[in-house]
Amino acid sequence: MENDNVPNNPSFAIETENLSKRFGQFVAVNSVTFNVRRGTIFGFLGPNGAGKTTTMRMLLGLLKPSGGRAKLLGYDVAHQPRAVKQRIGYMSQRFSLYDDLTVEENLKFFGRTYGLRGERLRERIQFVLKMADLIGREKTAGRELAGGFRQHMALGAAILHDPELIFLDEPTAGVDPVSRRSFWELLYQLVNDEGVTVFVTTHYMDEAEQCQELAFIHGGQIVAQGSPVQLKETLMHGSVIELTPDDPPEAMRLLKQARAEEKLTADDVALYGAQIHIVAQDAALTQRQISAVLHAGDVKFDPPEVILPSLEDVFLSAIR
Ligand SMILES: Nc1ncnc2c1ncn2[C@@H]1O[C@H](COP(=O)(O)OP(=O)(O)O)[C@@H](O)[C@H]1O
Ligand SMILES: [Mg+2]
Repeated sequence: MENDNVPNNPSFAIETENLSKRFGQFVAVNSVTFNVRRGTIFGFLGPNGAGKTTTMRMLLGLLKPSGGRAKLLGYDVAHQPRAVKQRIGYMSQRFSLYDDLTVEENLKFFGRTYGLRGERLRERIQFVLKMADLIGREKTAGRELAGGFRQHMALGAAILHDPELIFLDEPTAGVDPVSRRSFWELLYQLVNDEGVTVFVTTHYMDEAEQCQELAFIHGGQIVAQGSPVQLKETLMHGSVIELTPDDPPEAMRLLKQARAEEKLTADDVALYGAQIHIVAQDAALTQRQISAVLHAGDVKFDPPEVILPSLEDVFLSAIR
């Protein structure tokens, strides 16, 4: 018989300790430790094959860890699976709704699989239709539901039983930018209005920016964690100077040459579309040098500015 003692309102929704998973000789997740505060959006960021889904499946109790342990909402995943299951929701990487059922019928179906019946089921379906902006689409068949609304529907299905913690595995992969934004607005609503905790995996940097807390996973290991601002402040060594020249390739050539001749003090000079990012220890000195080099080379430019690094800059610097 499962021990179902209610933990006294732990401040963390997720606690993991040295969670690991081996498939044969291959280590897919290597001793991962992190905590997720209640009522926050926690982003689990990493490239394909990094170990995101494997970690999530262990947290959900769908995959047995090779080592380490995890607690959700204070309950031990390995020893209190029933208590955990009632309180969490999951939107998998390949969620599918039934194409031949309407939105409402889909929700009824998923609601019943959670054990919801009668008045409670009707009430939760109404909540979900409203929350997920599906009012007016109740009778639309699954197959006719436009791209972004399929995601709304999938999220709705994952929260029908009113979970305190939800897991979303790349919920917006392949979705257009406008729909991605509206999906994230739903997530904010859930966190702010309902106090839900969200654990979400993504490889979109703009989505990572929206999380309160992030962990970067690479090759099964967590290489950095913290808030987006903390990560930018602690992981980047040096300042990023952004330069917008009229002729970026020519400016690149001049700056690289100047660096080789030691007329430019910079750790890195890289082209970012129409801009150039220069990483420097003494930003003021380097800014003066950049201006001198470009003036001498007759390239016009806007004044070089120190910017906050992007999460992409930070992620690349963390795995370097
Ligand atoms: N059942 C499995 N058997 C063997 N290898 C697996 C299995 N599941 C995942 N892997 C491997 O583990 C690594 C991490 O996979 P996954 O967690 O799905 O990564 P992500 O979700 O970050 O893309 C990958 O190299 C993948 O091929
Ligand atoms: Mg995955």
